[in-house]
Amino acid sequence: MSDVMLEVRNLKKYFKTLRGTVHAVDDVSFTVERGKTLGIVGESGCGKSTVGRCLLRLLEPTSGEIYFEGIDICGAKGSELKKLRKDMQMIFQDPYSSLNPRKTIRDIIAAPLLENKIIPNATKKDIDTRVLELMETVGLAERLFNSYPHELDGGRRQRVGIARALAVQPKFIECDEPVSALDVSIQAQILNLLKKLQRDRGLTFIFITHNLSVVHYFSDDIIVMYLGQIVEKAPARELFENPMHPYTKALLSAILVPEIGNRKQRIRLAGEVTSPIDPPDRCRFEKRCHYACELCNQGTPQLIEVSPNHFVACHCVQKNSNTIAAGG
Ligand SMILES: Nc1ncnc2c1ncn2[C@@H]1O[C@H](COP(=O)(O)OP(=O)(O)OP(=O)(O)O)[C@@H](O)[C@H]1O
Ligand code: SF4
Ligand SMILES: [Mg+2]
Repeated sequence: MSDVMLEVRNLKKYFKTLRGTVHAVDDVSFTVERGKTLGIVGESGCGKSTVGRCLLRLLEPTSGEIYFEGIDICGAKGSELKKLRKDMQMIFQDPYSSLNPRKTIRDIIAAPLLENKIIPNATKKDIDTRVLELMETVGLAERLFNSYPHELDGGRRQRVGIARALAVQPKFIECDEPVSALDVSIQAQILNLLKKLQRDRGLTFIFITHNLSVVHYFSDDIIVMYLGQIVEKAPARELFENPMHPYTKALLSAILVPEIGNRKQRIRLAGEVTSPIDPPDRCRFEKRCHYACELCNQGTPQLIEVSPNHFVACHCVQKNSNTIAAGG
């Protein structure tokens, strides 16, 4: 039986600008089950971080509903909001800018422990002991206890960010490009650490990235976004083995997934990118799509379930079919 921890319904986030209204997130719905990882992928500007910020109430949605364990995130106030803020933590892309340069590693990790009174009536010694435990959990040497962020390399700084998020014993962690600022050799170490923490603590993750190889390694389910909308949503393995949306096909053609095999031919995307400002009511991928045809001129395609748990928003993908009806 499914145990939904997070539910997002018809989420929209528009930004009013001098040039018009940016449809950063446009009618996005999904769920995340407890203990699982949802990957959100798509190219720069497709709205991944805006979805993520709305989930954590760092941005107020224009409309839509978000529920965490049945609690309405958008309507939460006072102690309810405080509890949500504790249960839902974030790991940032750039660990350096998210760590206070004037504080030691000890103080950075201790701050959420103290703020949230995680250890009742804690003495300084209790806090120091818990900080050291957290440092050990994320693989930071004890000698770094009194160091400052600038004395650490990128991988270690990200470990501090992870320890700080874990300090409040969250149930849910949102990672927004957590390894893209790190050297490739360090990326795998941090991903392995996150995966181990998830296993050991039963954490639920949202993993936001433009890197498909990372999301393949990490996710149970994946949603692919294009210009503010979900164009495909499926279990990770199904998405990689049987991508249906022309945009997903193009994204996947550019990477190698060893256990699934090399892609036949790289699909290069040409054509103009539709503006996210007041976009027309039609497929937003049309100008770049190799499969575009007369069927495509029928308004915005809706997500339909083409096979169990596999949803695609394309006028040319039919239910119960694993091919695209039209060809370009
Ligand atoms: N405060 C803002 N005001 C106006 N437009 C914004 C604002 N924040 C984001 N946007 C726009 O919303 C769209 C989605 O941005 P977002 O940062 O969510 O994309 P992203 O998928 O996270 O991209 P990246 O991979 O580059 O991080 C973009 O067109 C962006 O320019
Ligand atoms: S609706 Fe048409 S233009 Fe849009 S992705 Fe499908 S085939 Fe391409
Ligand atoms: Mg982003």
